Amino acid sequence: MGLKHQAPRGTRDLLPDELPRWQWAEARARGVLAHYGYREIRTPVFEDYELFARTSGEASDIVSKEMYRFKDLGDRDLALRPEFTAGVMRAYLEHSLSGQGRVHRLWSMGPVFRYGRPQKGRYRQFAQLNAELIGSPTPGADVEVIALFVDLFEAWGFTNLTVAVNSLGTPATRRAYGDALRRWLEPVRTELSADSQQRLVTNPMRVLDTKDPKDQEKMHALASAMPRMIDTLDEAGRAHWNGVLEGLTALGIAHEVDHGLVRGLDYYTHTAFEVHDRSLGAQSALGGGGRYDGLIEMLGGPATPGVGFAIGLDRALLVLEERGWAPPAAAGGVYVVAMEATRTLALSLARELRREFAVELDLDARAFGAQMKAAGKSGAHWALILGEDEVKRGEVTLKDLTTGGQTTFPRAQLVATLRAGAPATAERPR
Ligand code: HAM
Repeated sequence: MGLKHQAPRGTRDLLPDELPRWQWAEARARGVLAHYGYREIRTPVFEDYELFARTSGEASDIVSKEMYRFKDLGDRDLALRPEFTAGVMRAYLEHSLSGQGRVHRLWSMGPVFRYGRPQKGRYRQFAQLNAELIGSPTPGADVEVIALFVDLFEAWGFTNLTVAVNSLGTPATRRAYGDALRRWLEPVRTELSADSQQRLVTNPMRVLDTKDPKDQEKMHALASAMPRMIDTLDEAGRAHWNGVLEGLTALGIAHEVDHGLVRGLDYYTHTAFEVHDRSLGAQSALGGGGRYDGLIEMLGGPATPGVGFAIGLDRALLVLEERGWAPPAAAGGVYVVAMEATRTLALSLARELRREFAVELDLDARAFGAQMKAAGKSGAHWALILGEDEVKRGEVTLKDLTTGGQTTFPRAQLVATLRAGAPATAERPR
């Protein structure tokens, strides 16, 4: 009989064997974010549909094709969040955070939803680590955010990353660029896919972001002669761009200008950046972001600059897994081996020890040999053996499973002995 229920297409279960990798990556990220002075913000998983439509852009793939939009029982028009930025900006405005300091550094982590075609590295529910620096218009803010972006990857063991950067200018210079690109592509227009021809009318810049393999090939072939966005920047935009490049160079952050980098959301201005890992195939972007100076105004707030990014955690972890990377094994831990007659003591001792240490025990009090074998496999550092005779004498035996050495001593010394010898749970890498 086939299974009645499976996880919905594009979603997946993360099983206990897989989660140590996630938890380790999340914990490392929290450490880096704290050192950069970022504070966590948690916003709802769903918001008004209109919030996303307005900010991501009605014509963007995310809004026009990939939104999980639904009506609730009160007939409200809602959507599962396809990204964090819009919700974070909504919360920033709703709670008047701007009145509580000039610059805000905020991060979030959790599931986001996009109705795309599932494939390797592309899911309908996936996790993002998102960071936003709100309130600073200076190139230094872009540089700090890109440094944080790179440092997160480095904390996870990625090396030799190159950040692709571009400048998308202002809405006005982008419009001028779009017109120039439309004119420039006119001679080959009819050779492009229907989708790209449509984009050429509505948002020509999006042709550079085409998903059509034939169009991609064509864009690639034409790239060197094509008009470039950075050539259409106004004076302020150019000064900002130069400031960002200088800052990245000064910090030794490897970067290259990618004139075709346009990003998939419409709210970007000036700096845009991404990191790719080609081993992932078609879905190679590990993360991306940029500046969004008009976004808060678009939501009815005062003109407020901002810059941020999101990292696709599923993809980053997929790369680590493919490279055979495993999180450091949890050190310490106690496996309690008890006999039928000492089972009650085992339960109460385990409860006491669990205030400080990770403790496993065999609830069925199986044969001694079977329990010792299980202790060896468990990854625990210590086997705490509660033999009948020792217990009668008020003693316990502690066996170091890594060296095989063992000692018997009064039970009253157990906690102190473990404290001295076995790392406490709180110190274990998570
Ligand atoms: P984004 O480039 O749309 O940016 O998404 C960021 C990352 O999420 C991508 O680089 C990718 O790693 C991951 N991702 C996107 N779609 C999928 C998917 N279907 N399955 C798995 N991973 C995926 C944003 O979302 C912006 N909000 C970033 C930002 C923050 N910009 C400014 N602040």
